[in-house]
Amino acid sequence: MTTTEPQPGRTVAEVVTDTVAALEGQRGALLPILHAIQETLGCVPREAVPVLAERLNLSRADVHGVVSFYHDFRAEPAGRTTVKICRAEACQAVGSGRLVDHVRDRYGMELGETRSDGALTVDQVFCLGNCALGPTVQVGARLHGRVDTAKLTDLIDSAMAS
Ligand code: FES
Repeated sequence: MTTTEPQPGRTVAEVVTDTVAALEGQRGALLPILHAIQETLGCVPREAVPVLAERLNLSRADVHGVVSFYHDFRAEPAGRTTVKICRAEACQAVGSGRLVDHVRDRYGMELGETRSDGALTVDQVFCLGNCALGPTVQVGARLHGRVDTAKLTDLIDSAMAS
């Protein structure tokens, strides 16, 4: 999904309220609720934070803290192609920094950015559980190991073309 617009006729507050109502009985409900909101809206919009805080009897700072701690949650919708470059130690040691430089040079993007046309988002992550085969990159839902700059170009261009 590439927009924060909820389904026709539903506001962000209504989506949040419905999601809380469905999941608030779970233990540690905030995380599953945030995931469900992101699944529905493509992101966790800033305006969702006060609604969540009120509904879950938490402070806005508590909710904001959780949203900002987990890199998977985003305030703006991701691009149609998402690329995550692992920057944790094992991948850094085998060259993930070169991939970051390559994204900057070839695509003109910094980590955390989404292209203005919504085609591509590039993020950093800290370990994808594929440490022995680094540098590791996730494109969409798929992990790729031993990624060099040529392979990264291929992966990104193929994903954007499909
Ligand atoms: S350090 Fe990159 S996958 Fe674990």
